[in-house]
Amino acid sequence: MTGITDKQTRIYALIQAIIRYLESHRNEVEGVDLTLKKLASMNLTENQLLDVPSQDSRHNAILNDAIDGIKVSPLLNEIYSCLSDAKNDLAWREDNAKYYQEGSDLGEGYKNCNLHTLLIGPDACGFHHDDFNLGVFMLGPRTLYRDHNHDAPELYLNLSEKSGWRFGSDDWQDYPAGSLIWNAAGEPHATKVYDHPFISVFVWLENINSPCSVIHFNDWEEIEKELNHSTSSST
Ligand SMILES: [Fe+2]
Repeated sequence: MTGITDKQTRIYALIQAIIRYLESHRNEVEGVDLTLKKLASMNLTENQLLDVPSQDSRHNAILNDAIDGIKVSPLLNEIYSCLSDAKNDLAWREDNAKYYQEGSDLGEGYKNCNLHTLLIGPDACGFHHDDFNLGVFMLGPRTLYRDHNHDAPELYLNLSEKSGWRFGSDDWQDYPAGSLIWNAAGEPHATKVYDHPFISVFVWLENINSPCSVIHFNDWEEIEKELNHSTSSST
Protein backbone atom coordinates (compact mmCIF):
# COMPACT_ATOMS: atom_id res chain seq x y z
CA MET A 1 0.00 0.00 0.00
CA THR A 2 1.53 3.29 -1.06
CA GLY A 3 -1.01 5.62 0.49
CA ILE A 4 -1.04 8.01 -2.43
CA THR A 5 -4.22 9.47 -3.86
CA ASP A 6 -5.65 8.89 -7.36
CA LYS A 7 -4.71 12.45 -8.20
CA GLN A 8 -1.09 11.88 -7.19
CA THR A 9 -1.09 8.66 -9.20
CA ARG A 10 -2.19 10.55 -12.34
CA ILE A 11 0.44 13.27 -11.87
CA TYR A 12 3.11 10.63 -11.24
CA ALA A 13 2.10 8.78 -14.41
CA LEU A 14 2.46 11.98 -16.44
CA ILE A 15 5.95 12.61 -15.07
CA GLN A 16 6.94 9.03 -15.83
CA ALA A 17 5.55 9.27 -19.37
CA ILE A 18 7.65 12.38 -20.00
CA ILE A 19 10.78 10.73 -18.57
CA ARG A 20 10.19 7.63 -20.70
CA TYR A 21 9.91 9.78 -23.82
CA LEU A 22 13.18 11.54 -22.98
CA GLU A 23 14.89 8.21 -22.31
CA SER A 24 13.93 6.96 -25.75
CA HIS A 25 15.29 10.15 -27.39
CA ARG A 26 18.47 10.35 -25.38
CA ASN A 27 20.86 11.15 -28.21
CA GLU A 28 18.77 13.63 -30.16
CA VAL A 29 19.92 16.83 -28.49
CA GLU A 30 22.50 17.47 -25.80
CA GLY A 31 19.98 18.69 -23.27
CA VAL A 32 18.11 15.39 -23.05
CA ASP A 33 21.05 13.63 -21.51
CA LEU A 34 21.74 16.50 -19.13
CA THR A 35 18.09 16.52 -18.09
CA LEU A 36 18.02 12.76 -17.52
CA LYS A 37 21.21 12.94 -15.45
CA LYS A 38 19.70 15.62 -13.27
CA LEU A 39 16.44 13.67 -12.92
CA ALA A 40 18.38 10.55 -11.98
CA SER A 41 19.96 12.45 -9.08
CA MET A 42 16.55 13.28 -7.60
CA ASN A 43 14.40 11.20 -5.33
CA LEU A 44 11.28 10.82 -7.48
CA THR A 45 9.66 8.01 -5.54
CA GLU A 46 5.93 8.08 -5.01
CA ASN A 47 6.19 8.79 -1.29
CA GLN A 48 7.87 12.12 -2.11
CA LEU A 49 4.90 13.35 -4.16
CA LEU A 50 3.36 16.63 -3.05
CA ASP A 51 -0.35 17.27 -2.80
CA VAL A 52 -1.00 20.75 -4.17
CA PRO A 53 -4.52 22.11 -4.83
CA SER A 54 -5.42 22.16 -8.50
CA GLN A 55 -5.92 25.53 -10.17
CA ASP A 56 -7.98 26.39 -13.21
CA SER A 57 -7.33 29.34 -15.51
CA ARG A 58 -9.17 31.69 -17.83
CA HIS A 59 -7.52 29.84 -20.73
CA ASN A 60 -9.16 26.50 -20.05
CA ALA A 61 -10.84 26.21 -23.47
CA ILE A 62 -7.56 26.95 -25.28
CA LEU A 63 -5.75 24.47 -23.06
CA ASN A 64 -8.29 21.76 -23.93
CA ASP A 65 -7.80 22.56 -27.59
CA ALA A 66 -4.01 22.40 -27.19
CA ILE A 67 -4.16 19.02 -25.43
CA ASP A 68 -6.58 17.74 -28.05
CA GLY A 69 -4.03 18.65 -30.71
CA ILE A 70 -1.51 16.19 -29.21
CA LYS A 71 -3.79 13.27 -30.03
CA VAL A 72 -2.78 13.16 -33.70
CA SER A 73 0.83 12.19 -32.98
CA PRO A 74 1.31 8.45 -32.34
CA LEU A 75 4.74 9.19 -30.82
CA LEU A 76 3.08 11.14 -28.06
CA ASN A 77 0.26 8.72 -27.22
CA GLU A 78 1.32 8.09 -23.68
CA ILE A 79 2.04 11.72 -22.81
CA TYR A 80 -1.27 12.70 -24.40
CA SER A 81 -3.36 10.28 -22.38
CA CYS A 82 -1.53 10.99 -19.11
CA LEU A 83 -1.84 14.75 -19.62
CA SER A 84 -5.55 14.47 -20.47
CA ASP A 85 -6.09 12.39 -17.33
CA ALA A 86 -4.10 14.73 -15.05
CA LYS A 87 -5.12 18.05 -16.58
CA ASN A 88 -7.68 18.90 -13.90
CA ASP A 89 -5.33 17.86 -11.10
CA LEU A 90 -2.72 20.43 -12.00
CA ALA A 91 -2.20 24.04 -10.93
CA TRP A 92 -2.20 26.12 -14.12
CA ARG A 93 -0.59 29.53 -13.82
CA GLU A 94 -0.13 32.53 -16.05
CA ASP A 95 3.17 34.36 -16.20
CA ASN A 96 2.54 38.05 -15.75
CA ALA A 97 6.10 38.78 -16.84
CA LYS A 98 7.33 37.49 -13.47
CA TYR A 99 10.22 35.81 -15.23
CA TYR A 100 11.22 39.02 -17.03
CA GLN A 101 12.87 42.28 -16.09
CA GLU A 102 10.35 45.03 -15.48
CA GLY A 103 9.20 46.86 -18.60
CA SER A 104 10.30 44.05 -20.95
CA ASP A 105 8.81 44.38 -24.44
CA LEU A 106 7.18 40.96 -24.54
CA GLY A 107 4.38 41.94 -26.88
CA GLU A 108 0.64 41.43 -26.54
CA GLY A 109 0.56 37.80 -27.71
CA TYR A 110 2.50 36.41 -24.77
CA LYS A 111 0.74 38.62 -22.24
CA ASN A 112 -2.71 37.71 -23.57
CA CYS A 113 -2.32 33.98 -23.42
CA ASN A 114 0.45 32.03 -21.73
CA LEU A 115 -0.01 29.21 -19.25
CA HIS A 116 2.19 26.72 -17.47
CA THR A 117 2.12 24.10 -14.78
CA LEU A 118 5.10 22.76 -12.87
CA LEU A 119 5.49 19.04 -12.27
CA ILE A 120 8.92 19.34 -10.63
CA GLY A 121 10.19 22.58 -9.12
CA PRO A 122 9.32 25.14 -6.47
CA ASP A 123 5.54 25.10 -5.86
CA ALA A 124 5.21 22.17 -8.26
CA CYS A 125 2.31 19.72 -8.42
CA GLY A 126 4.54 16.63 -8.39
CA PHE A 127 7.93 16.93 -6.71
CA HIS A 128 9.69 19.81 -5.01
CA HIS A 129 13.03 21.10 -6.28
CA ASP A 130 14.65 24.44 -5.50
CA ASP A 131 16.57 24.91 -8.73
CA PHE A 132 15.00 22.81 -11.47
CA ASN A 133 11.75 23.08 -13.42
CA LEU A 134 9.92 20.47 -15.40
CA GLY A 135 6.46 21.38 -16.56
CA VAL A 136 4.00 21.95 -19.36
CA PHE A 137 3.82 25.27 -21.19
CA MET A 138 1.12 26.62 -23.47
CA LEU A 139 0.73 29.67 -25.71
CA GLY A 140 -2.42 30.87 -27.46
CA PRO A 141 -2.86 30.68 -31.26
CA ARG A 142 -1.22 33.30 -33.53
CA THR A 143 1.36 34.31 -30.94
CA LEU A 144 4.91 35.41 -31.46
CA TYR A 145 6.87 34.57 -28.34
CA ARG A 146 9.50 37.20 -28.96
CA ASP A 147 13.24 36.54 -28.99
CA HIS A 148 14.68 36.18 -25.51
CA ASN A 149 17.37 34.41 -23.53
CA HIS A 150 18.08 33.35 -19.96
CA ASP A 151 20.79 31.79 -17.82
CA ALA A 152 18.69 28.69 -17.33
CA PRO A 153 19.59 26.00 -19.89
CA GLU A 154 16.25 24.98 -21.40
CA LEU A 155 14.85 21.90 -23.08
CA TYR A 156 11.56 21.89 -24.99
CA LEU A 157 9.66 18.83 -26.05
CA ASN A 158 7.16 20.07 -28.61
CA LEU A 159 3.76 18.45 -28.24
CA SER A 160 1.80 20.48 -30.78
CA GLU A 161 1.79 19.52 -34.43
CA LYS A 162 3.82 22.43 -35.75
CA SER A 163 5.61 25.45 -34.30
CA GLY A 164 8.14 27.90 -35.74
CA TRP A 165 11.48 28.57 -34.07
CA ARG A 166 14.51 30.74 -34.64
CA PHE A 167 17.72 30.92 -32.70
CA GLY A 168 19.33 34.33 -32.83
CA SER A 169 19.02 34.80 -36.61
CA ASP A 170 16.26 35.79 -39.03
CA ASP A 171 15.77 32.22 -40.21
CA TRP A 172 12.67 30.43 -39.01
CA GLN A 173 12.18 26.69 -39.10
CA ASP A 174 9.09 24.64 -38.33
CA TYR A 175 9.35 21.79 -35.82
CA PRO A 176 6.91 18.86 -35.60
CA ALA A 177 5.27 17.15 -32.63
CA GLY A 178 7.79 15.14 -30.65
CA SER A 179 10.76 17.32 -31.64
CA LEU A 180 13.26 18.44 -29.03
CA ILE A 181 14.83 21.86 -28.76
CA TRP A 182 17.84 22.64 -26.62
CA ASN A 183 18.60 26.22 -25.67
CA ALA A 184 21.93 26.28 -23.84
CA ALA A 185 22.40 29.02 -21.23
CA GLY A 186 22.19 32.48 -22.78
CA GLU A 187 21.26 31.34 -26.28
CA PRO A 188 18.52 33.42 -27.89
CA HIS A 189 15.31 31.82 -29.14
CA ALA A 190 11.83 32.79 -30.32
CA THR A 191 8.69 30.78 -31.05
CA LYS A 192 5.92 31.30 -33.58
CA VAL A 193 2.49 29.84 -32.87
CA TYR A 194 0.23 29.35 -35.88
CA ASP A 195 -3.54 28.88 -35.92
CA HIS A 196 -3.62 26.22 -33.21
CA PRO A 197 -2.30 26.69 -29.68
CA PHE A 198 1.26 25.71 -28.81
CA ILE A 199 1.88 23.17 -26.08
CA SER A 200 5.15 21.66 -24.91
CA VAL A 201 7.00 20.06 -22.06
CA PHE A 202 9.72 22.38 -20.84
CA VAL A 203 12.71 21.91 -18.55
CA TRP A 204 14.92 24.51 -16.91
CA LEU A 205 17.96 22.69 -15.64
CA GLU A 206 19.37 25.30 -13.23
CA ASN A 207 19.57 29.05 -12.54
CA ILE A 208 15.79 29.14 -12.53
CA ASN A 209 15.68 32.38 -10.60
CA SER A 210 17.71 34.50 -12.99
CA PRO A 211 15.41 36.65 -15.14
CA CYS A 212 14.81 36.30 -18.88
CA SER A 213 15.89 39.12 -21.21
CA VAL A 214 14.04 40.13 -24.34
CA ILE A 215 16.33 40.56 -27.37
CA HIS A 216 15.07 43.13 -29.83
CA PHE A 217 14.44 42.15 -33.46
CA ASN A 218 13.12 44.61 -36.02
CA ASP A 219 10.63 42.21 -37.57
CA TRP A 220 8.40 41.50 -34.58
CA GLU A 221 5.49 43.66 -35.65
CA GLU A 222 5.58 42.35 -39.19
CA ILE A 223 5.54 38.73 -37.95
CA GLU A 224 2.73 39.44 -35.52
CA LYS A 225 0.70 41.02 -38.30
CA GLU A 226 1.28 38.00 -40.54
CA LEU A 227 0.26 35.55 -37.81
CA ASN A 228 -2.91 37.47 -37.17
CA HIS A 229 -3.85 37.57 -40.82
CA SER A 230 -3.00 33.97 -41.52
CA THR A 231 -5.82 31.73 -42.60
CA SER A 232 -6.02 28.02 -43.32
CA SER A 233 -2.56 28.11 -44.95
CA SER A 234 -0.98 27.51 -41.55
CA THR A 235 -1.84 24.79 -39.14
FE1 LIG B 1 13.22 30.20 -23.12
